[in-house]
Amino acid sequence: MGESIAVIRLETQRLVLRELTAEDAPALHAVWGDAETMRWYPRPYTLEETGERIARYRALYASGAGLLGVVLRESGELIGDCGLTWQDVKGVQEPEIGYHVRRDFWKQGLATEAARAVRDYALAALGCDHVISLIRPENLPSRRVAEKNGLTLDRVIFWRGYEHCVYRLAKADAPAPSR
Ligand SMILES: CC(C)(COP(=O)(O)OP(=O)(O)OC[C@H]1O[C@@H](n2cnc3c(N)ncnc32)[C@H](O)[C@@H]1OP(=O)(O)O)[C@@H](O)C(=O)NCCC(=O)NCCS
Repeated sequence: MGESIAVIRLETQRLVLRELTAEDAPALHAVWGDAETMRWYPRPYTLEETGERIARYRALYASGAGLLGVVLRESGELIGDCGLTWQDVKGVQEPEIGYHVRRDFWKQGLATEAARAVRDYALAALGCDHVISLIRPENLPSRRVAEKNGLTLDRVIFWRGYEHCVYRLAKADAPAPSR
């Protein structure tokens, strides 16, 4: 991921995934500031922390990585995030697909749809030879999203203070990209 990538924008049937901006902080705070959505994290983020994270992801976009805003095509509303970040897993930098969806939009297949687009983007445009997702064993909805997109359980590791399932998909095993 050495070279610079143009503005990142991914489209699916119902969604646009686009770079976050500082103006997205309030909409994203409805996701990252929600205790139930963030139950797998040490605590929800404050509005200020959300702004800081947006700035951090914006600094990554030129490399092709960074969580993107998940926007409903129909309404233009930002209802979550999904994207690729590099995670240190036992000393190896791994390309991880992450996602969070606002609670009132759960169970509509939106995370699966967004993560599929990021999977295809990582394996094609970014040239990753595999992708992973790090998921707490109890987080069944997230595991299901990974499984529906073809990732399989590779191993369980202790990571950031908790057990995590490492879901993995090699490019060679990925289905052809589709919308
Ligand atoms: C994980 C998350 C993004 C899934 O979002 P979503 O848009 O509801 O996911 P989808 O609608 O694409 O659902 C994917 C699958 O999970 C299942 N699922 C969703 N919520 C579920 C729940 N509470 N319990 C069990 N299964 C659930 C869905 O039924 C679907 O499987 P199916 O098609 O076999 O029925 C959402 O639950 C969330 O934001 N969770 C908190 C943040 C988080 O955990 N992020 C991932 C960190 S690793």
